[in-house]
Amino acid sequence: MAKVLVLNGPNLNRLGSREPDVYGTGSYEELGGALAALASELGVDIDMRQTNDESEMLSWLHEAADGSTPVILNPAAFTHYSYSLRDACALLTAPMIEVHLSNPLAREEFRHTSVVSGVATGTISGLGFDSYLLALRAIAARV
Ligand code: DQA
Repeated sequence: MAKVLVLNGPNLNRLGSREPDVYGTGSYEELGGALAALASELGVDIDMRQTNDESEMLSWLHEAADGSTPVILNPAAFTHYSYSLRDACALLTAPMIEVHLSNPLAREEFRHTSVVSGVATGTISGLGFDSYLLALRAIAARV
């Protein structure tokens, strides 16, 4: 069964209580449940992880590069400034879809830059959990 890594950056473990007006009231665990249900429908295997540590995120991206594993990535705040994250994403050979729960372009100016988008297969933003679910459908159609 094809494996998909779902990687989440800083503060996303706080979903549900973190700025619910921006990110919704669904928890990180509920996001995982929604993705797992869709994954079984699509016949793919997901491995969802979250870190607040840039170095750990880089290691996971290296693992995805080594395994040619497709990735759904919500880089969270790393999106806006982490060149090391972008460079790690550039190593990927399988599809990588950048996702955001909110629409960063409709928010503060510092969120208007993504250093990751230029090396992503595609980007889906502003649709809450659906950003991830649509990304999973797109990846399942490509593997
Ligand atoms: C986010 C948007 C980022 O600007 C922010 O730093 C996040 C979450 C989103 O999913 O909407 O942590 O990636």
